[in-house]
Amino acid sequence: MRILVTGGCGYIGSTTARLLAKSDHDVVVIDDFSEGHRGAWDGEIHQMDLRDLGKVSTFAESNAIDGIVHFAARAYVGESMVQPLRYWRANLAPVMNLCDAFAGVPFVFSSTCATYGEPDVARLDESLDLNPVNPYGATKAAAERLLSDRADADQGAYLALRYFNAAGADAFAAGQHGEHHDPENHLIPRAILNGLGLLQEELQVFGTDWSTADGTCIRDYIHVSDLAEAHVLALDHLFDGKPSTVLNLGTGRGYSVLEILGAVEAATEQKLNWKAAPRRAGDPAELVADATRAFEVLGWQAEHSSLQNIVETAVTWHRQNPQGYTS
Ligand SMILES: NC(=O)c1ccc[n+]([C@@H]2O[C@H](COP(=O)([O-])OP(=O)(O)OC[C@H]3O[C@@H](n4cnc5c(N)ncnc54)[C@H](O)[C@@H]3O)[C@@H](O)[C@H]2O)c1
Repeated sequence: MRILVTGGCGYIGSTTARLLAKSDHDVVVIDDFSEGHRGAWDGEIHQMDLRDLGKVSTFAESNAIDGIVHFAARAYVGESMVQPLRYWRANLAPVMNLCDAFAGVPFVFSSTCATYGEPDVARLDESLDLNPVNPYGATKAAAERLLSDRADADQGAYLALRYFNAAGADAFAAGQHGEHHDPENHLIPRAILNGLGLLQEELQVFGTDWSTADGTCIRDYIHVSDLAEAHVLALDHLFDGKPSTVLNLGTGRGYSVLEILGAVEAATEQKLNWKAAPRRAGDPAELVADATRAFEVLGWQAEHSSLQNIVETAVTWHRQNPQGYTS
């Protein structure tokens, strides 16, 4: 199958593009390089801003595509709080344009646990109402609704995959590929960069007074290669004519910020430099997935997501590529 991977030069997109290519799909990537890196993907690339309907339509006229895996988005919660319009445009316009240009084409969508908001439950499952507390989560929830409306109108099936916290480096190429955001906002890479002496800035732990065992926030970390595998299965599901739905992708096991810092200290053999900081607006105390439905629907479960494997693959990537991707 010829698969369009948008945002395929980004972190999760490039990991998935490589796995799709390994699974004998013909992969074409679109990326505007706003965050992506040329070195992340060495197959076919079209540089394009997906907010431009004219360009997306022209591309569609000359490219027959069997399936779309759509990663391209802006994905910083804090930034979305201060630049909401930017997020609505960045995260909705590409979905609308792709739906417009590729009528009927099966669509796998990168969604997020941020669509749930702050539900007061130990494990989040897909039956919960969506109640996003920041513009980022709201744009993703709106895009899911658009895809659901499109499917209801028989204009294309979809799977929306709600990731929890992506982490780790490509399990099959950890020394060559990994996470590179600039600036890096995610906890695990920031902690590793700090441990390896590549980030001088002191780490901040946002809130040490949450109602959790050690007072710090708990998140569910899912290895990027597990996410990639779920996307391959998601496309197979849609190509088999199975129904559209929404699935959580997580492990069902949460780790506190302090547990993460401890794991990074063990892997880097360095004491990390961190300080307690006030809680951030919109940060729930605990977000952990119930991923039962992903197993039932796709037969998927996390295989690479032990904390040790997540941290070790990421450390290998950062050690071997201290500047990240250089192209
Ligand atoms: N990283 C996480 O923990 C996480 C968690 C939940 C959901 N997600 C979602 O997963 C997806 C991928 O996340 P990531 O961490 O790999 O992000 P990333 O920033 O590394 O990748 C996004 C890619 O999309 C490209 N892009 C952005 N806007 C574009 C546009 N208008 N046209 C073309 N290309 C564009 C960027 O250049 C980048 O290469 C996003 O949709 C994000 O919301 C990520």
